[in-house]
Amino acid sequence: MEHQSVLVVDFGGQYTQLIVRRCRELGVFSEMVPWRKAEGRLREAPPAAVILSGGPRSVLEDGAPAIDLGLLRGIPTLGICYGLQLMARLLGGRVVSAEAKEYGKRVLGWVADGSWLAGLDSPQVWMSHGDQVAEPPPGFRTVASTDSCPVAAIEDRSRGLYGVQFHPEVSHTPSGREVLRRFLFDEAGLVGDWTSEAFIEETLESVRSEVGEGRVLCAVSGGVDSSVMAALLTKAIGERAVCVFVDHGLLRKGEAEQVRETFTRVFHPRLLVFDARDRFFESLRGVTDPEEKRKIIGAEFVRVFEEHADQLQDCTHLAQGTLYPDVIESGSETAATIKTHHNVGGLPSWMRMKLVEPLRWLFKDEVRSVGRALGLPEEIVEREPFPGPGLAVRILGEVTPERVRIVQEADWIFRQELRNRGLHRGIWQSYAALLDVRSVGVMGDERTYQQPIVLRAVESEDAMTARAKPIEFEVLEAIANRIVNEVPGVNRVLYDLTSKPPATIEWE
Ligand code: XMP
Repeated sequence: MEHQSVLVVDFGGQYTQLIVRRCRELGVFSEMVPWRKAEGRLREAPPAAVILSGGPRSVLEDGAPAIDLGLLRGIPTLGICYGLQLMARLLGGRVVSAEAKEYGKRVLGWVADGSWLAGLDSPQVWMSHGDQVAEPPPGFRTVASTDSCPVAAIEDRSRGLYGVQFHPEVSHTPSGREVLRRFLFDEAGLVGDWTSEAFIEETLESVRSEVGEGRVLCAVSGGVDSSVMAALLTKAIGERAVCVFVDHGLLRKGEAEQVRETFTRVFHPRLLVFDARDRFFESLRGVTDPEEKRKIIGAEFVRVFEEHADQLQDCTHLAQGTLYPDVIESGSETAATIKTHHNVGGLPSWMRMKLVEPLRWLFKDEVRSVGRALGLPEEIVEREPFPGPGLAVRILGEVTPERVRIVQEADWIFRQELRNRGLHRGIWQSYAALLDVRSVGVMGDERTYQQPIVLRAVESEDAMTARAKPIEFEVLEAIANRIVNEVPGVNRVLYDLTSKPPATIEWE
């Protein structure tokens, strides 16, 4: 089944991915492309609509990022912030550098009757810009303004061109979803054909044609991504999807047993389990650099598969649960590479199997919906995300069996206490990390010189941004007490208050 698609051209704006998400939430498939690659994409496959994102540069600068707007002829287009200014400048309007940067909540004091923005429930909008449009280009009319921004929105319905100076994609613009909905459905005439069922149907077809008569090795971790991936592949190609669980010794306490039990019980009785704990610990010995750890773990996975070649006969493909944010974060042109997520970047070049990544277009919440549509149980669908390299990226410094044990015990206590109090609801991820410093403490009459545990619990929509979960002090204190008393080797407990950005969710 072919679905309609919105191309979001990224000019380096901090909210560009949110635009993509909002379109998807409205049931419209949306894809992000860096501005330098946009012209190629537009020529190759014209989308049903285009959104030009915000960005940090000024359209008034020499060499400011731009695309040939001629390629958008006949394609309904919405410019947001920088995107609006670019449209205004290239089509003959006037853009000026405002005296002061405008940042924060503003009110659309005036909206033109009968315009595409008429009658919104809330006039509040979020602004974040330096330049602004002083005069819209010929053919356009101004349809909204604020006290400080006379041209806050424009339209040229005859050409299907629209622009807003504010950011409809952020939650501080309460009618933002409605603004995007009106553009996509009322103005651009899209139908909203992006559903889990459509995705499943499309993916089954594409997997079958990608794999042909081959066999696919599906590495499952018990997490929602790899489970959904394995379920999809099993549905697509039946027994030629070979599901394997590698126990690398870096899972949370009791998790290896639990994955095995749930997985074989609920949906795939032929799970192959390889115990590779010794091999992983051996290859991680003495390694402290986070990126190095990810690369080693990625490489070890493949060696484990090679070692069991007799059972994995003829696997031509390797399936991975790579998601859209991983694809974007692993090096789009405008966003810097933050971490090499091992399921994208760290695999060794000598790997002979071809990669199949059926979830590479999805955000996490979409994966969960697909999982439900495939009939997976809630215990899998609602599971907290867990990084592929496991506890290795939650143990700063060297990864040893003893340090893994410390982190497992502390993590177990933390999450058990949250669950007992019902605080786990609304948490995106919660975990304990072990630092590689030591500090002095006192226990009984003895001086201790041991390691600190950091507790981290975050709220997030999609892991792109996150906020530390507010937890009552008394609760944290009780958890800290339990950890120092019950986990040998730990004499201090810290709670991480940092948001992402500037921190990341994991410590490494
Ligand atoms: P960060 O730490 O970058 O994490 O804020 C964002 C999300 O990605 C998970 N994560 C990983 N997942 N391989 C994975 O499969 C990795 O190397 C990796 N590193 C981080 C992290 O748990 C969070 O959900």
